[in-house]
Amino acid sequence: MLEQLRRDVTMLVRGLAGRTPPPLVKRMERRAAPARGVAVRTVVIEAVTRETADAVSVTLRDPRGAELAFTPGQFFTIEATIDGARVRRAYSASSDARDRGRATITVKRVAGGRMSTFLCERATPGMTLGLLGPSGDFALPAAAAPRHVLAIAGGSGITPIMAIARATLAAEPATRLTLVYANRTRAAIIFADALDQLAAAHPGRLTIVHRLDDIDGELTADTLAAHLAPDASDVLLCGPDPMMALAREALAARGIPAARVREERFFAPSCPTAATTAQALTIRRGGAITRAIVRPGDTLLDAGLAAGVPLKLSCAMGGCGACAVTLVDGEVTMDEPNCLTAAERAGGKVLACVARPVSPCTVEAPT
Ligand SMILES: Cc1cc2nc3c(=O)[nH]c(=O)nc-3n(C[C@H](O)[C@H](O)[C@H](O)COP(=O)(O)OP(=O)(O)OC[C@H]3O[C@@H](n4cnc5c(N)ncnc54)[C@H](O)[C@@H]3O)c2cc1C
Ligand code: FES
Repeated sequence: MLEQLRRDVTMLVRGLAGRTPPPLVKRMERRAAPARGVAVRTVVIEAVTRETADAVSVTLRDPRGAELAFTPGQFFTIEATIDGARVRRAYSASSDARDRGRATITVKRVAGGRMSTFLCERATPGMTLGLLGPSGDFALPAAAAPRHVLAIAGGSGITPIMAIARATLAAEPATRLTLVYANRTRAAIIFADALDQLAAAHPGRLTIVHRLDDIDGELTADTLAAHLAPDASDVLLCGPDPMMALAREALAARGIPAARVREERFFAPSCPTAATTAQALTIRRGGAITRAIVRPGDTLLDAGLAAGVPLKLSCAMGGCGACAVTLVDGEVTMDEPNCLTAAERAGGKVLACVARPVSPCTVEAPT
């Protein structure tokens, strides 16, 4: 209970600061929300580029020649069959979004991780993968005037920022971008050469500050704050959770308001046990009504599937939006990274794969 209370207060404060929604989502009526495509398409690997000892870039294209368009900052959900099991994970596009014929994802191996190990070790040109998306609303808002953008990245968190940097430097000729990029060692820097080339192609407009643990010592909020420019009009933040927490502290210490900061979380949310008692769930889908019981700790998706409702799903970790349903009545707690847009949240959408009821709930699911 105390742990849940702590999480709720933290998320509420972050929600009020405009970073992520508060965990308690209450809806009494249904409002319209945009639909999402959830069909898996087959893509083929065009190229595999080794970026570091444990990171690869995988370039994908549609074998029928269809576009693979995305907005810089968005991610795709990759589906692969690994040792007989279907696995889906989200990966941000890192390539230049102006090339609409292909998209590159960049994957850093996580120790013991199924998909990241598979892609780092076994991805080869010609191999096919399933693909959903693009999804997500991590993006730089449009600006009419030149600006100073501050990007803070850690490890694989550079991937969406790389796509945004490429696009912004090309589209806004007088905008400056400062990138503070934290890694353990120089050898771990993803896109080391590509970043240098991008800086050389835009003289005086891209400043890169490499922050390396083995040379500069352990990262702290104080050491990070020293690199942050308070005049930045927009701040992008993506990296491991502990590094993002330090960055928030450092940004606050430099007087940069949270409203200017856009975050992308890569890590699947932990699974709070929201309800200590079972909750009743009513699912409306295509004119049919199904009643289910959500056991303590289970999600709306767990209960719906167990009751035989063919709910849509993809990543099953709050990353892709495929499982979005409309909360018509009741309350859920939902620790989703960054998938739903503000409009979807306002429209009552919740992600069934990470939403856990704290009261009897009714949801409307797409057919
Ligand atoms: C919106 C979004 C965008 C993402 N974009 C990228 C990207 O561009 N590049 C990239 O490399 N990854 C990205 N990720 C992370 C990616 O989706 C996977 O979570 C990651 O590759 C691990 O998957 P896995 O199957 O290898 O590990 P799993 O088999 O799922 O997990 C193995 C172990 O690793 C831990 N773990 C899982 N994910 C992480 C993580 N991210 N960091 C540390 N430990 C972890 C798990 O708790 C578990 O103990 C993104 C995630 C999200 C939600
Ligand atoms: S299945 Fe991807 S967000 Fe729920």
